[in-house]
Amino acid sequence: MDINEMQSLLQTKLKPQRYAHCIGVMETAIELAKRFNVDEEKAAIAGLLHDCAREFETSHLIEESEKRHLFITDIDRQLPILMHAPLGTAIAKEEYGINDTAILKAIASHTVGGAYMSDLDKIIYLADMIEPHRKYDGVEKLRQLAATTDLDTVMISAFDQSITFIMRKGHTIHPYTVAARNEILLTKEL
Ligand SMILES: [Fe+2]
Ligand SMILES: [Fe+2]
Repeated sequence: MDINEMQSLLQTKLKPQRYAHCIGVMETAIELAKRFNVDEEKAAIAGLLHDCAREFETSHLIEESEKRHLFITDIDRQLPILMHAPLGTAIAKEEYGINDTAILKAIASHTVGGAYMSDLDKIIYLADMIEPHRKYDGVEKLRQLAATTDLDTVMISAFDQSITFIMRKGHTIHPYTVAARNEILLTKEL
């Protein structure tokens, strides 16, 4: 299946607004891939398909994930919507024929991040947060950083933004997000 066919199939699965978001993530991921020397085709496919499991009913997400023996944490059980990312890897494989592990890993980590994120993982996480349809306080600052500074600096800001948002909502902070942020801070030259 080529990327045009993937787009056509995805369009039949997602609500128009969600599909527009996925196209936005794909286009932003391509721009970021150019800027940070990442494979553009992989970035395009991962960006396009990152939310391919996002329209599953929340009540079915855990069930579908269990069916496929995906690892489910307590936090995922409390906030099942988080499982659309790991479940997305299974759907990308089953319905879109994706077998590239780098693409699948980027889809899996797009919502909460994780330790040992590759540059492709980081670009998809970021593209999801800054694609043109996104509107929240702080998005402009992130867009500007993504266009001007190094990838890890933008990622720290992206994690800060996301952790602050989740704390304000009173939700649990996913340990993968904390691990991802700590890992960058521990390896980065400050
Ligand atoms: Fe998502
Ligand atoms: Fe998304």
